[in-house]
Amino acid sequence: MRGLLSSPVCLTVIWFLSWSLGPSCAQIWNGEVSGLQYGRLGSNITLACGKSHNSRMSVMWLHNQRKELPWHKVTSDGKLVLLEANQSAQGNYSCHSDRGSHLHSISLMLGHPPAQLNVLCQMPNHSYVHCSWVESVNTFLPAKYNASFRGSHETWKPCVVDVSQKHCEVILPAFWQVYHMLAVTQTNALGSHTTYDRIKLDKLLKPDPPRFLKVEQLEGFPRRLNVSWSYPSSWARLDAYPLHFQISYRPLGSIYWSETFISETSVVLYDILEGHVHEVQVRAQDLVNSDSQWSEWTNLTIAGPWEAEPEEAEVTWTYDTDASYTDSESTSTKSHNVDSEDDGDLGLMILLICFSVFIFTTVLSLFLVMWMRRRRRKHNAKQEPSSVVKMKSMPI
Ligand SMILES: *[C@@H]1O[C@H](CO)[C@@H](O)[C@H](O)[C@H]1NC(C)=O
Ligand SMILES: *[C@@H]1O[C@H](CO)[C@@H](O)[C@H](O)[C@H]1NC(C)=O
Ligand SMILES: *[C@@H]1O[C@H](CO)[C@@H](O)[C@H](O)[C@H]1NC(C)=O
Ligand SMILES: *[C@@H]1O[C@H](CO)[C@@H](O)[C@H](O)[C@H]1NC(C)=O
Ligand SMILES: *[C@@H]1O[C@H](CO)[C@@H](O)[C@H](O)[C@H]1NC(C)=O
Ligand SMILES: *[C@@H]1O[C@H](CO)[C@@H](O)[C@H](O)[C@H]1NC(C)=O
Ligand SMILES: *[C@@H]1O[C@H](CO)[C@@H](O)[C@H](O)[C@H]1NC(C)=O
Repeated sequence: MRGLLSSPVCLTVIWFLSWSLGPSCAQIWNGEVSGLQYGRLGSNITLACGKSHNSRMSVMWLHNQRKELPWHKVTSDGKLVLLEANQSAQGNYSCHSDRGSHLHSISLMLGHPPAQLNVLCQMPNHSYVHCSWVESVNTFLPAKYNASFRGSHETWKPCVVDVSQKHCEVILPAFWQVYHMLAVTQTNALGSHTTYDRIKLDKLLKPDPPRFLKVEQLEGFPRRLNVSWSYPSSWARLDAYPLHFQISYRPLGSIYWSETFISETSVVLYDILEGHVHEVQVRAQDLVNSDSQWSEWTNLTIAGPWEAEPEEAEVTWTYDTDASYTDSESTSTKSHNVDSEDDGDLGLMILLICFSVFIFTTVLSLFLVMWMRRRRRKHNAKQEPSSVVKMKSMPI
């Protein structure tokens, strides 16, 4: 018997019976609602006890099957008027005859009519616009949206709203019309409202960040890194609309970024601090349209340059060639890297030179002073006898 009960066929039959019998059992009222009514928060809401109800009969109202009702009055014809209803007045209302039999029930939902939406559009390439919106005032009610899009002097085209009802997208045949208008209509049980948003496509254009950022050391070159990346996947028309890229890098822990701009998808950095791990990031912008926005940065990628084995004699050789390359080839690289070690060495040297110059001048001036004193003393010694002679020769 146990085996029989748990057999799949039997379980299916039981499930089917319970499913098909369920609703008919519930016909004796147990909270089922026959009507849905919407109302504005803060307003007076009138609930009628159905059309069939004899208006001379007195009725009793229940809220969520309880006798406590929100602030209300009952009209002479048995209608319930909820006064300045707030959120707590929502729920299921039922009216019953004085003999207790169920007459009618209503589910009440309260909210606000649609108002202005906050619309945000994005454009990851020249032929695609994606817009999303949020309510500026919570309406609390389910809503539907439809949206349209048009260039100046064009006819409205639909902006296709997705199932979530929170976004729409337009595929543009061309970018030629710079100014566009987006209209989004929100409709709920209490009304509808259309929000208009003026869009300037050349300012809106913002590529997605580059992909597959790779930072690799170059063997034999302790001051170089090879950085490479790919176009974002949403930027398919590489030849028609090239991107240019900003590469930003620094030794780990430094607060100063160095940067370089390039329209290829890889670059060798020549001014890498020897023996230091660096962090590198890249972002993209439409090459032609300087009004357009930079993409977000890629995530930081961390890598260190190639390092020589300490005992190898080759080290100095590679360093030298590398240094000469640095001078000739990294001219396009704008660097404001201040706290590097090279600069530290330079600072020390300048300090030493200053110090020796200081010592030298001090010693020199000391000698000078001493020499001058001696000269003056000699001079004084010579002058003294003559003054004595003068005094002697003066008439008294
Ligand atoms: C109102 O009735 C519906 C079924 O019609 C039920 O799902 C819902 O939970 C009820 N609400 C309250 C607050 O009792
Ligand atoms: C609601 O009804 C009350 C009493 O009838 C009235 O004084 C009040 O002004 C009404 N409020 C609104 C918002 O209509
Ligand atoms: C809602 O209105 C009732 C009166 O109907 C009042 O007692 C209650 O405090 C109000 N609730 C809020 C959150 O305003
Ligand atoms: C949404 O649809 C309604 C009814 O079809 C129409 O009147 C309205 O213009 C549409 N709104 C937008 C923004 O397309
Ligand atoms: C840098 O890396 C890219 C991609 O891996 C590669 O195509 C390029 O040849 C490398 N450059 C150098 C100088 O090795
Ligand atoms: C533009 O971006 C959208 C969304 O990422 C993408 O589906 C579409 O293929 C892209 N179009 C082109 C031409 O790159
Ligand atoms: C950056 O990293 C975060 C988490 O580490 C990841 O969710 C995100 O997708 C990454 N972004 C890019 C552009 O790779």
